[in-house]
Amino acid sequence: MQDSIILGRPDDFHVHLRDGAALAAVVPLTARQFGRALVMPNLKPPVTTVSMAADYRERILRSVPTDLQFSPLMALYLTDATPVDEVARVAESDFAHAFKYYPAGATTNSDSGVTALAKVYPVLEAMQRHGVVLCVHGEVTDPTTDVFDREALFVEGSLQHIARDFPALKMVVEHITTLEAAEFVAASGANIAATITPQHLLYNRTSIFTGGIRPHLYCLPILKREKHRQALLQAATSGSAKFFLGTDSAPHAKNNKEACCGAAGCFTSHAAIELYAEAFDSVAAMNKLDDFASRFGAAFYGLPRNVGQVTLKRESWTPPNEFAFAGETIVPLTVGRNLSWRMV
Ligand code: NCD
Ligand code: ZN
Repeated sequence: MQDSIILGRPDDFHVHLRDGAALAAVVPLTARQFGRALVMPNLKPPVTTVSMAADYRERILRSVPTDLQFSPLMALYLTDATPVDEVARVAESDFAHAFKYYPAGATTNSDSGVTALAKVYPVLEAMQRHGVVLCVHGEVTDPTTDVFDREALFVEGSLQHIARDFPALKMVVEHITTLEAAEFVAASGANIAATITPQHLLYNRTSIFTGGIRPHLYCLPILKREKHRQALLQAATSGSAKFFLGTDSAPHAKNNKEACCGAAGCFTSHAAIELYAEAFDSVAAMNKLDDFASRFGAAFYGLPRNVGQVTLKRESWTPPNEFAFAGETIVPLTVGRNLSWRMV
């Protein structure tokens, strides 16, 4: 049995770091594990311009511990009103790397999102021309659509159209949760990739209701049936460069999760690489983890690999059940359980 593994220092291509006092709580945890992270722009107000992203990046950098090398990669929030010129500014910038497309109303702080695909077609055309990446939250937003069907319907209704109309657009389908999304990405050209979270590799929708309701397993897109989890595990460990690491770690204060209407988002930054190791180990694919965690994402974004390495050891340990969070606390995904790998 393999008891340790050395990986290139990994990257997280989808993380929520929030703002203000919350940054000091979560940035050090991400910076400890990852050399870089693509930071989501769903703040209030959203980060819609390169200039706002530059300011946000400075605020993030102030929370990076001085002994750690960490570089925030910035994503801009795409809205109906994003000017075509902003695309060129992203292309010229050395820290902004993508636009994030939230269908309006799909998830936390998505009210400023895109209300109809047609409204952003000129911007998508410019992104295709400049080689700027579009990151997509892939769910339909009709409130009458069953929450478990929203991603598959988006693949059929929107992703296929974007891929057909912009055949060279670089696109990352974020936090995929279904067989349909995995198949769409696998069947597309090299310009279309996907991130996969640890929770979608480790849990299925029954996990949310095991022994009672478990709010810290609730995120969007919601966990799906076991057959979808199996399809994601297969994709992540397939060796295909189209699938790479993006935690979607999304901190919310405990009170907002353990509430009569709990917020969507799982917090995993404190033990992300260990959670992925557990998932890969479960299918005897530890030899595929390095590419998934530290090579494929960087290659897709046209970035060099990070300098440095991390070592994981097989060791049973219990992560903290709460983390300080701007005067409140965060309860992580791992609450109440042990992990079998540990970063040293
Ligand atoms: C994210 C958040 O809290 O910002 N929540 C989530 O459930 N994933 C938003 C998102 O990425 O959908
Ligand atoms: Zn997210």
